Amino acid sequence: MRVAIITGGSSGIGQSAAVQLAQRGTGVILTFQGNEAGALDTVATIEKGGGRAVALPLDVGRSETFPAFRDSVVAALRDTWQRDSFDFLVNNAGAGHMALFEDTTEADFDRLSRVLLKGPFFLTQTLLPLMVDGGAVVNTTSSSSRSLGLEPGYSVYGAMKGGLVVLTRYMAKEFSKRGIRVNSVSPGVTRTRIGDNAFERFPDLIPGIAAETALGRIGEPDDVGMAIAMLLSEESRWITAQDIEVSGGYGL
Ligand SMILES: NC(=O)c1ccc[n+]([C@@H]2O[C@H](COP(=O)([O-])OP(=O)(O)OC[C@H]3O[C@@H](n4cnc5c(N)ncnc54)[C@H](OP(=O)(O)O)[C@@H]3O)[C@@H](O)[C@H]2O)c1
Repeated sequence: MRVAIITGGSSGIGQSAAVQLAQRGTGVILTFQGNEAGALDTVATIEKGGGRAVALPLDVGRSETFPAFRDSVVAALRDTWQRDSFDFLVNNAGAGHMALFEDTTEADFDRLSRVLLKGPFFLTQTLLPLMVDGGAVVNTTSSSSRSLGLEPGYSVYGAMKGGLVVLTRYMAKEFSKRGIRVNSVSPGVTRTRIGDNAFERFPDLIPGIAAETALGRIGEPDDVGMAIAMLLSEESRWITAQDIEVSGGYGL
């Protein structure tokens, strides 16, 4: 059985990717930060469908904890799948933060850069020796890194996601010697718990965004989770170094 590691699997896009991959026969190690109940829900959904999943705590903003996380991964692989390697990594965990440029503090900047860029970089570096040759990585970027998704208040978030787009290409180049593909998905506005559950708190925002979207609605977690599963599948074996917009045609 193939095994995927998905960061931020306790809700939203990562939860969907975990379930979608499990439905395609992949074992899943998913991570959570604060929402353990959400992570256990993901595990329960996967097990109900006949799949196997393990939930582990991880703060992607604290790279000094990554070696201990790798040890937990090694134990989970051994105990649950009798393996010493895994196949796929999804660097998905992330949180939004809105502040206009002139209001952004150095602490905001440092926190976002640790979670959105430094975390994926060093987590991948830490886990790469455990990944099989011929494996695949998907990073979750954001349409906020593109001209059409640009909104005031997201300069640091969007810049870090833009950095992750570029990092995706460098990873694809360097990991290609081991046959490892690296791509990213760039979600448009997607109904998740992002922004302290902003879509539940501000439902009035949704119709305007839907009207700007060619396919006429906002995204749902499965819209993006399925795209992640597709990029990890054999059908995508000749795709690498790409940032795929998954937005239903936002701004078309
Ligand atoms: N929703 C959108 O409109 C949208 C658009 C573009 C890109 N994205 C990106 O999509 C990814 C997934 O977000 P989502 O929309 O699915 O939001 P979500 O429902 O809030 O899920 C975020 C996930 O990331 C985890 N997480 C947050 N900060 C973390 C940290 N420091 N360390 C470890 N895990 C952390 C959360 O864990 P806990 O809840 O357990 O703490 C949760 O599992 C993020 O990278 C986000 O930037 C989202």
